[in-house]
Amino acid sequence: MNNYEYCVPTDIRFGKDQVECLSKEIGKYGKRVLMVYGGGSIKRTGIYDKIYEVLKDYEIYELPGIEPNPKLASVKEGTKICKDNNIDVVLAVGGGSCIDASKHIAAAAYYDGDPWDLVMDKTKVTEALPVFTVLTICATGSEMNPGAVISNEETKEKLELNHPLLYPKLSVCDPTYLYTLPGKQTAAGTADIISHIFEQYFQPNDGAYITDRLSEAALKTCFKYGPIAMTEPENYEARSNLMWTSSIALNHLFTFGKGGAWSVHPIEHELSAFYDITHGIGLAILTPAWMRYVLNSNTVARFAMYARNVWDIVAEDDYEAANAGIDRTEQFFIKLGLPTRLSELGIDDSQFELMASEAVRTSGLSTRAYVKLDVGDVTQIYRDCL
Ligand code: NZQ
Ligand code: ZN
Repeated sequence: MNNYEYCVPTDIRFGKDQVECLSKEIGKYGKRVLMVYGGGSIKRTGIYDKIYEVLKDYEIYELPGIEPNPKLASVKEGTKICKDNNIDVVLAVGGGSCIDASKHIAAAAYYDGDPWDLVMDKTKVTEALPVFTVLTICATGSEMNPGAVISNEETKEKLELNHPLLYPKLSVCDPTYLYTLPGKQTAAGTADIISHIFEQYFQPNDGAYITDRLSEAALKTCFKYGPIAMTEPENYEARSNLMWTSSIALNHLFTFGKGGAWSVHPIEHELSAFYDITHGIGLAILTPAWMRYVLNSNTVARFAMYARNVWDIVAEDDYEAANAGIDRTEQFFIKLGLPTRLSELGIDDSQFELMASEAVRTSGLSTRAYVKLDVGDVTQIYRDCL
């Protein structure tokens, strides 16, 4: 196993009614709260009213309207509210988009220039307001990690700001809040969780045995409970297992002792930057194509291991097992009702080379990925998804 530093300071409050803890916990940091939320689902579900009830002794300011693939303009708006009103705590109520915007706002509140500067140079992050989250969709793991992915509408860049100061202080993870999720979001969220595990699993270090076995258990959990959550939205067992899996899938537990750059995420981030598509849908389309593209004599043993340990594939030949595992992965996404082709989203090949060069430029794809990919390789993967 590689040397590894592991410190996850987020306090997780998991289960029904855990939102009540906010009335006490936020108070440790102050009374002026900026509540960041999306397009209105929290009003329809009653979570909005519940937050006001729990925080009745607090002064609440609001930043509504955070869009999926959150935009820099929202970050600027939130930063201004924090500076103008001396905000003590940023409270994200929603999914990865609200949480990521909140983290960026929390850091930008201590910075005088353009908040995008922090994405370009994270040494400019010197301090951050405490971020609390109430999770309403499980997918990104943002509730338990220090990453914030923001889209710059002007430059068409979608990039991550990652800094240890941005771990949420506390995250409320109540699986009953997932009951209202539309099927599309449940499916896309599940695909995102699975992709996070793949990004860490498909890496060279074979000595991190414990990490690989934990990853396989988490993958099996998604494959077991994803379809149940789709057909029985109020199945607590399914929602709770998926919710916890989303948090541990991206709190670096599955990178422990390993490392290496991610592959499918940077390729997808260009799709959602250029076409504003749902992140998990892009991943579901790209993942089987990426797997087939990088399957070779160096990687086949690991793909066969995945197939045998996660899908119980019985095949003597490694290539036969690996291909069967990839097919099962693709069939799983189809079973969740996810699209399999970019053309289904109205995407053609006109931007493939530009997106591919941006993906390679802004990531470790060509230098540190499981299989190193250049612009031509990434362009071909996009083409394979048409
Ligand atoms: O906006 P509202 O009305 O709230 O509706 C949201 C939104 O349309 C809806 N929703 C959320 N909870 C709901 C609900 N609808 C009904 N009932 C509920 N309980 O779901 C939609 C999607 O929400 P969003 O927050 O965008 O989803 P997600 O959590 O998948 O976040 C996606 C963003 O996170 C980034 C993605 O790139 C994307 O920008 N990522 C963040 C990561 C991180 N911080 O670590 C890592 C990921 O790989 C990812 O890149
Ligand atoms: Zn993701």
